[in-house]
Order: sequence, then C-alpha cells, then structure tokens
Amino acid sequence: MKDFLIAPSILSANFARLGEEVDNVLAAGADVVHFDVMDNHYVPNLTIGPMVCQALRDHGVTAPIDVHLMVKPVDRIIPDFAKAGASIITFHPETSEHIDRSIQLIKDHGCQAGLVFNPATPLHYLDYVMDKLDVILLMSVNPGFGGQSFIPGTLDKLRQVRAKIDASGYDIRLEVDGGVNVNNIGEIAAAGADMFVAGSAIFNQPDYKAVIDEMRGELAK
Ligand code: DX5
Ligand code: ZN
Repeated sequence: MKDFLIAPSILSANFARLGEEVDNVLAAGADVVHFDVMDNHYVPNLTIGPMVCQALRDHGVTAPIDVHLMVKPVDRIIPDFAKAGASIITFHPETSEHIDRSIQLIKDHGCQAGLVFNPATPLHYLDYVMDKLDVILLMSVNPGFGGQSFIPGTLDKLRQVRAKIDASGYDIRLEVDGGVNVNNIGEIAAAGADMFVAGSAIFNQPDYKAVIDEMRGELAK
C-alpha cells in the first residue's frame, strides 16, 4: 500500500489540555502533528507560537511536528520554530519577499521545507524551487479557521501538482489541508495527495482512533 500520512490539525484540539490531546491522537494512529500558526495579519486569526511547540516536545512528543506558518513576514519566526522542535516548516509564498531564501533558511536550520498554496494561489511559484522542496501543501480552504468545507477545485489542482512531482522525479510529499474528512479522503488520495491534514473531522469526534481507522480504510480502497 502507498505510504499515506495522517496529520491531525491541533487547531481543533482542546487547548486547555493540549499535551493530552496530542498524546491521544498519536496513540490513535496519527503519523504527524499539524501545527497551525496564525498571526491575525496574514490570516484573520491568532493561534500559537514556538513556545507551544517547545512545550509539546518537553511534554515528550517525539512524532514529527508539521508547522504550517500563516505569518507575514515569515523569515523571523523560522529559526525560532526550528529551535522549538519543528520537523517540517511550510509557508505561503505571499508571506516571503525571497521565497528561495526562506526555503533555504528552513533547511539550514535542519527542518524539511514546504511551500503552501491557497486555493487561488497559482502554481508557478513552484517553477524554480521544486528541487529544494520536501513538501507541497495545497490549501483546500482559505486559511484562518478550522471546520470549513473542502473546495472541490482543489482536486484538479492536486492532479496538476501530482503530475509535476512525478515528472520531476523528486521525493516530495503532496499535503492537503482543509475540510478533509472520512467521506472525501478517498477521492483526495486518488487525485494524488499522500499527506492529509484533518482538524475538525478528528477532534470533533469522541473516538479519534475510530475516525483515523476509517480514514485508513478509505485510503486502502
Ligand atoms: C486552516 C488550517 C487547517 C485547519 C484544518 O487555515 O491550516 O489546518 O485547521 O481544519 P479542518 O480539517 O477542520 O478544515
Ligand atoms: Zn494547516
């Protein structure tokens, strides 16, 4: 079977007991912790910073932490997240004056680097950086909030990026974020994604393992 990664977004977790929530979702079979960083400037919401990432590491979380930066300007915060234990750091091209430099900054700090595309962000930003990316993240909602509906046009964009990755020969993860649930994860995988962020679909259910098992069942079809 293809190697699929499920990355619960802790945006929908109970922040009053975050360590326990992360422990529970990892015990339920999650592969990666998706960590949404919002600045009330680039996106209209305000969430968590490097201190919380460090707190999860200090709590004993050893799973990869996938830091999704929705912060402008982005460069200043990259080293702080690397030092706080981020494994993957992704950012939106609109938040960087020098995209290549920001990617290099992430890699120089020992993390995997990814570029994030909003629903209306064109793919041409990929043209000169494919060789440097570990992850391409397609947003399937406009960033800022959990619990929104998957934008169907993302499927075609996923197919386009999957074709680009396959043609490039590079080992790049294709991540999708927003509105992913048990009912649509199968067609999202069929369109080429291999890493799935899901916030409300997991954390709004009482039994995280049941949801993740159902998602894996859909992916195995
Ligand atoms: C949105 C965030 C997502 C979000 C996903 O800006 O990047 O990670 O939390 O939440 P759901 O799965 O509820 O759409
Ligand atoms: Zn996210």
